[in-house]
Amino acid sequence: MAFKVLSALALASFGYASSQSSCKCTPDDACWPSIATWDALNSTVSGKLIHNLPVAISCYPGPYHNAEECAYVYSQWSNSTFQELSPVGYVYPTDEPCPPVDLSSGETPGTCVLGPAPVYTINATEPEELAAGMTFAQKNNVRLVIRNTGHDLLGKSEGYGALQIWIRYIRNGISIQDSYVPTETCAQNNWTGAAVTISGGYVWDDVYNVAFARNITVVGGGDPVYMSSSPNGYCRANSDLSFETVGCIGGYIQGGGHSPASHDYGLAADQILEAQVLLASGEIVTASACQNPDLYFAIRGGGGGSYGVALSMVIKGYPSKPVVAHSLAIIPLSSETDPLLESVTDIYTEYPSLMDFGFSGYGTWSINSPQVLFGNQTIGYVHAIAVMDKSLSEAQDAFQPLLQKLEKYNGTSLFVSLTWYQFPTYASYYRAMSGAHQAVGSPNSAMSSRMFNKAALTSSRTALRSTIGVMAGQKEQYTINSVELIAGGKVLEEDPYSGLNPAWRSTYIVSVVARGWADGSSAATVQSVKNDITYIKGGAMRALTPFLGSYMNEADRNDPLWAWDFFGLNFARLTQIKEEYDPAGLFYCPTCVGSPSWYQKYLDGKDYGPLCPTGL
Ligand SMILES: Cc1cc2nc3c(=O)[nH]c(=O)nc-3n(C[C@H](O)[C@H](O)[C@H](O)COP(=O)(O)OP(=O)(O)OC[C@H]3O[C@@H](n4cnc5c(N)ncnc54)[C@H](O)[C@@H]3O)c2cc1C
Ligand SMILES: *[C@@H]1O[C@H](CO)[C@@H](O)[C@H](O)[C@H]1NC(C)=O
Ligand SMILES: *[C@@H]1O[C@H](CO)[C@@H](O)[C@H](O)[C@H]1NC(C)=O
Ligand SMILES: *[C@@H]1O[C@H](CO)[C@@H](O)[C@H](O)[C@H]1NC(C)=O
Ligand SMILES: *[C@@H]1O[C@H](CO)[C@@H](O)[C@H](O)[C@H]1NC(C)=O
Ligand SMILES: *[C@@H]1O[C@H](CO)[C@@H](O)[C@H](O)[C@H]1NC(C)=O
Ligand SMILES: *[C@@H]1O[C@H](CO)[C@@H](O)[C@H](O)[C@H]1NC(C)=O
Ligand SMILES: *[C@@H]1O[C@H](CO)[C@@H](O)[C@H](O)[C@H]1NC(C)=O
Repeated sequence: MAFKVLSALALASFGYASSQSSCKCTPDDACWPSIATWDALNSTVSGKLIHNLPVAISCYPGPYHNAEECAYVYSQWSNSTFQELSPVGYVYPTDEPCPPVDLSSGETPGTCVLGPAPVYTINATEPEELAAGMTFAQKNNVRLVIRNTGHDLLGKSEGYGALQIWIRYIRNGISIQDSYVPTETCAQNNWTGAAVTISGGYVWDDVYNVAFARNITVVGGGDPVYMSSSPNGYCRANSDLSFETVGCIGGYIQGGGHSPASHDYGLAADQILEAQVLLASGEIVTASACQNPDLYFAIRGGGGGSYGVALSMVIKGYPSKPVVAHSLAIIPLSSETDPLLESVTDIYTEYPSLMDFGFSGYGTWSINSPQVLFGNQTIGYVHAIAVMDKSLSEAQDAFQPLLQKLEKYNGTSLFVSLTWYQFPTYASYYRAMSGAHQAVGSPNSAMSSRMFNKAALTSSRTALRSTIGVMAGQKEQYTINSVELIAGGKVLEEDPYSGLNPAWRSTYIVSVVARGWADGSSAATVQSVKNDITYIKGGAMRALTPFLGSYMNEADRNDPLWAWDFFGLNFARLTQIKEEYDPAGLFYCPTCVGSPSWYQKYLDGKDYGPLCPTGL
């Protein structure tokens, strides 16, 4: 059953389908809507229209200057909860054209503009307000951005000159069924286990609170500790990132979604049983194996922000199991980096057998990290991995082969420490041990990720060791590598309704490499770091697994082969589905399906600007 939110919207979208020949209107253009037109929109959405102001505007001269407010903003800058309260606060912006200023230390403000952030925001609480914003954007040829948390790392929740619709406060509840019954009868449905319905802009912590209280495990976000890899960037590491702030039903799940539970149960996208989706036409439709199966396919791995806006989803829930976990930490005993990289190679080689036994989790390593890896160490390797439903001795036996390899370094070139833990439930494990993973942050960083399969990890130690050497970089490059042991196991199983990059079905780990640069670095320095990540470090990883891909949600914004790397063999089919559900290209985001129909006419020296059709 499908119904219209606003029938006028369907008509509006028709008229625009074939007339996309001009760029989207920006405030500099004569076609930008008048104040009266914006006021009319504001009335339609019950006064919820916000004219966006940069988060740190109080630090700059002008009508909003306020030294006390500025000091507070400066102190809170790296606090993701603080950033999320602003419609234009970002955890990982692609640019920061209005940085906070430390006025108390005599720092002087430069310039402050919105840059790539949208101009207006509808702070929606009802799906009707979302639909009204979509109609307005189509009718007035204004760029549209759908934002929930603003966590995206590739600029997908930014948009120069755009109208943004913020769906964070559309919240219609989280509920649990002990045994799933599809909303509409569906003969294709095989799932009779528990199901969790998430209706709105919730974050995983909201869902964990409900699911864990019922002893139910869900595949949700798992590594809350992303921090700045910038050596002296203004993103100070005092952050309040101790709980999971990633959105549930948007970019995370539709782009794949890895989790401490994904090895056991499949990626988050694989958990979607059905969804309610608001389409560009204004219709709200069900996507399931029975209704709109092509849309169902697309939102299960084909990326967020592309086919429609998910208003709710029903995902699988699993009975909690006991967990055995350990943390492994390795510190070099001298300034020589070779033994550490040899041990990292041994560890990578053992991942497939550890994961075939059932281990999964997260790790990080560096030969010179700009931030601590653990304790006060900036050089070393650390991971926290766990296995469900095994005894401590079974888990220890499975780890024995790797431990033996590591013992030969222990006390001579490296210090190796290993600690085991037992947890009665997944929830107690999750609460105690998630967050060991650290990655990138601030606009001052570049990152790239690569999927590794069993062959890449085990067939040639020489090739792997040489790749790891390139990934480690030189000490003065301040490179951080993260390793996500989140695939293998259930992720290897094919699913006919999965829009995920098929490369996932042979992936064991995703390895992420990141580097930062200091504030005030020259354009040439910044470009050389980006090139190093894309072509040298990312290139070395690609060479090891050229036919696999990269995880689209933790990826290189500058990846020249993004369509292959993020979507693989599914790109063509996903593009067809995009054309079917969003023929006018209302939903645009960089490196998303459908994005080749548009380009950004970059402003001078920037990598954002007005959105224009390419004619493709
Ligand atoms: C602190 C942090 C921790 C992370 N942890 C993990 C992790 O454990 N595992 C993992 O796999 N990834 C993780 N990520 C990466 C994460 O998957 C991406 O940042 C993802 O884009 C976030 O999705 P979001 O909806 O919260 O973000 P947003 O920035 O709000 O949205 C991202 C994209 O999705 C679209 N979108 C948002 N909501 C909807 C919706 N309802 N319907 C359709 N489109 C929508 C937006 O338009 C945009 O294109 C993490 C990121 C951060 C910053
Ligand atoms: C929208 O209306 C509300 C309530 O009248 C007002 O507070 C707000 O400033 C208006 N927004 C814009 C962008 O004018
Ligand atoms: C982070 O911001 C939130 C929201 O403003 C606030 O409640 C919290 O106390 C802040 N945390 C820190 C460590 O300042
Ligand atoms: C957005 O709306 C929510 C819910 O009505 C409200 O709590 C919040 O303060 C609003 N945010 C902004 C920035 O206006
Ligand atoms: C349910 O199982 C059947 C038979 O194995 C399979 O063909 C179908 O694709 C499954 N349905 C879903 C939604 O996965
Ligand atoms: C939770 O599940 C675990 C594993 O099935 C079980 O041992 C435990 O008793 C359950 N706890 C509660 C509170 O139901
Ligand atoms: C790191 O911590 C250890 C023990 O806590 C301490 O002995 C050592 O001096 C510290 N090293 C540095 C560089 O701070
Ligand atoms: C490494 O050696 C130290 C010192 O001998 C020892 O305490 C530690 O347990 C060893 N680590 C492992 C994993 O065996």
